[in-house]
Amino acid sequence: MEKILDGKALSKKIKNEVKIETSELIEKYGKTPHLVVILIGNDPASETYVKSKERSSKKAGIKSTIIKKDHSISEKELIAIIEDLNHDEDVHGILLQLPIPKHIDSEKVINMIDPLKDVDGFSNHHVARLNKGLDALVPCTPLGIMEIFNEYNIDLEGKHAVVIGRSQIVGKPMASLLLKANATVTITHSRTKDMKAITKQADILVVAIGKAKMIDESYIKKDAILIDVGISRIDGKLYGDIDFDSVKDKASYITPVPGGVGPMTIAMLLKNTLTCFKNIMNK
Ligand code: GUN
Repeated sequence: MEKILDGKALSKKIKNEVKIETSELIEKYGKTPHLVVILIGNDPASETYVKSKERSSKKAGIKSTIIKKDHSISEKELIAIIEDLNHDEDVHGILLQLPIPKHIDSEKVINMIDPLKDVDGFSNHHVARLNKGLDALVPCTPLGIMEIFNEYNIDLEGKHAVVIGRSQIVGKPMASLLLKANATVTITHSRTKDMKAITKQADILVVAIGKAKMIDESYIKKDAILIDVGISRIDGKLYGDIDFDSVKDKASYITPVPGGVGPMTIAMLLKNTLTCFKNIMNK
């Protein structure tokens, strides 16, 4: 069991630290950090994530509000909501749960969020800063993965890190963070030719594809460190993108699903909410 990178235990530790810091901040500023989540439509996975975000925020002493809107909301209405939240002095973090309906220009609305309140770090402001290696609000999932590396003293310098997936939420920011930590980084994706030839070179492999058990032992090098971002529900059971049983004797470390990357994402959302709060208070 030494091999397991236990995101659940680490997230508990971080959530406790956040809880303590939240009460100190309330005492210091006489204000409660407040995260607002905008949820559009009835996607069951999004509803579950949002409820979980609310539960964890409240447990940590962070005020949480969910604004739930029908799938038919117009882009104009959504922008008006975001602008109100931008101007509301009692709101410190704004999270627009993705995906949003296709009739809304997601790039446009994400960039309407005040960068000071952009807890996801999805706006161009933070993406550009992260790419330049500057201080930024960093998307919660890759930030949580970096915390795991840190907790387990996994040295990234000079290592070959391969990221499978090029999304704005995980793959691209993950690559930027690994590069900042002096890893040699390769991104592979659905159009990559002979992916195995590349993933077999990886000292560290971060998998964010969204296909259950796709990566088996034939994709990895002996003693590789494996990070599994995928979560697929099949017949009520959760699976990652990595076939755990196939790789477990070959890898040196692996994040389980569930209990690996998932809980870290929420812990990082709480941390980012406090970062937004502090930045706003000290502006
Ligand atoms: N949908 C899936 N993951 C995320 C996330 O980290 N943030 C937001 N806003 N939406 C998501």
